[in-house]
Order: sequence, then structure tokens, then C-alpha cells
Amino acid sequence: MASIIGAMAASHSPLMINNFDEAPKEQKDNIVGGFDKLKEMVEQLKPDVILSIGNDHLRELDLSNMPQFIIGIGESNKTMGDFNLPKVTIRNHQGLAQHLLNYSLDHDFDLSYSVDLNLDHGHSQTLYYINPSFDIPVIPMIINSVAHPNASLKRCYRLGEVLRNAILSFEDDIKVLIVASGGLSHWPSTLSIFNGHPANLQSEDDQRMFAIISGKDHSDEAEQFRIQRSKKMSEEGKTGRVNAEWDRWFLKCFESGNITDIINLSWQDIMDNAGGGGQEVRNWVCLWGAINGVPAEVISYEPVREWVTGMAIASFKV
Ligand SMILES: [Fe+2]
Repeated sequence: MASIIGAMAASHSPLMINNFDEAPKEQKDNIVGGFDKLKEMVEQLKPDVILSIGNDHLRELDLSNMPQFIIGIGESNKTMGDFNLPKVTIRNHQGLAQHLLNYSLDHDFDLSYSVDLNLDHGHSQTLYYINPSFDIPVIPMIINSVAHPNASLKRCYRLGEVLRNAILSFEDDIKVLIVASGGLSHWPSTLSIFNGHPANLQSEDDQRMFAIISGKDHSDEAEQFRIQRSKKMSEEGKTGRVNAEWDRWFLKCFESGNITDIINLSWQDIMDNAGGGGQEVRNWVCLWGAINGVPAEVISYEPVREWVTGMAIASFKV
């Protein structure tokens, strides 16, 4: 039977790649060191497959069709190479992916599915740091964390529980590592125009951005516009706020196994305290459900203003 041999969670920030030098050395060392530890763990664990729980940023999925949960079941999936991350094809484990889909459907989770996902940094950044060769098969699960309304945290935790039971009932003797990517607090540029209220569009830039996230504009020009807009907003101080106090509270809950306070967080609680980007903690919560809420071991935390994100890295003894 399949087994869950490890679990790890980390924040992602594309500015960690594109604005690496701007962050203070101590913070950089702590975060890079944390990712190195995860990479060492992966090398020791030697998983047969990674279940990667992350989110898209209105690149692959957009407002023309927004599933709350979507699983990749094709032979392989791609990374789109946004923010200068590698553009690669990653093998899937189709047998387990299909089983997760079927099992979830049989247990009241009507997941969407795709045979060919193009993953943005919401998956590819963490995968790149923990397995730079991308040679371990990956089953991608995308949770909508960007386009309001979103599934509740209770529902995300419950999905994790169902995925756990699905993995443990898979007949092949394979080792599964679960990885979550997202959060913690941040107020990124895309969501500063959206935040569930498209009526908030004010500037010409906002309108252009909304047009991009409303349709399938994957042109290089659109991507360059997004990157430049993100950098400009960071330089102007319009993004970059990080709520370290909330992040530390969140991590304490994970360290102490305080599931109740986490799953009772509402969308508004998160929006008020951790920003639009904080909604990505859904990925952590889904992972937690898949490992029965065992306490986290926090490896690193830094509120990195220059990367506009509360950067946290944690592992779990499963
Ligand atoms: Fe993100």
C-alpha cells in the first residue's frame, strides 16, 4: 500500500528570485538555509511521488473559469517559467493521481481535473528549491486562493483528510511526500486590484491587469507587464507589507497542533490580518488535514519586505 513518508510547507515569493539581492543578508541566509534543509530531507526520503498542493496566480486559471480545487491527472504537467523560474515538463504519477480523483469523487469532493496543467511559481518555485532537477514525479493540486470567493479553511482541511485516506488506500507500494506552497502574510500586486471586488479598478494599470487576469493572455508582453507592475508597486511601497505578528501566531498554531483556531479563520480574518496573499495558507491547511494535523517543526521564518512576503519554512514528522 502507498504511504505518506513526509510533509513540508513553505512560502513562495517570485521576488526571492527576481529581487534576491535586495533583502538583508541575515534574512536571505535563513530562508536559503531553510530550503536547503528541505532539499536534504527530500534526498533522504527518496519519495516516489510528490503531491504538490499550491495555487495558481491567475495565469493558468483565470476569471473565465475558476475551479476551487483542480488536480492534474495527465501523463505530465509543465511549469510556465514565470519570474525566470525553469520551464520544464514534470512527470506525473498517473495511477495515484487518477485514484485521488476517483476516491475524492466517491467521498463528496467533486474535484476538477486537467490532463495538462501549466504551473506557475505557486508550485514551481518550491519544487525547484527542494528538487532542482524536477526528476521526482509530481501530482499537482491547485487550490483557488486568489479569486474570491474561496473554499473555507475547514473545507480545505477536510479535503486533506480525504486525500490522506485516498493515498493510504492506493494499492501500489509507493512513498508519497506532500508539499504545500503559499502564504504567509503578504499584500501582492495582483490582489490589490482584485480582492474579491473587481469594481475597485482605478488606474489604467489596474484595468490592464484586470483584462489580463480575465482572459487567457499568456503573451510575453502580458507577463512582462505583470513583472514590471509587481516591481513598481513594491518600489512605491504599495506592496510589501508583512504582518510578522500574525505570521508568528499562525506558525505557533501549527507548532502546537491548534487546528481549531486555524480552520475557524474566515476569508475576512485572513484578508484583514494577512492580506490577499495570506489566502494561500489554504495550501498549508489542506496539507495539514492530509497528515492528521501533526505539529509542525518551523525551520525558518523571516518577514522579508523586499520579497513582499512573510517567508516561512516548516516540516512535519508524519
Ligand atoms: Fe503566491
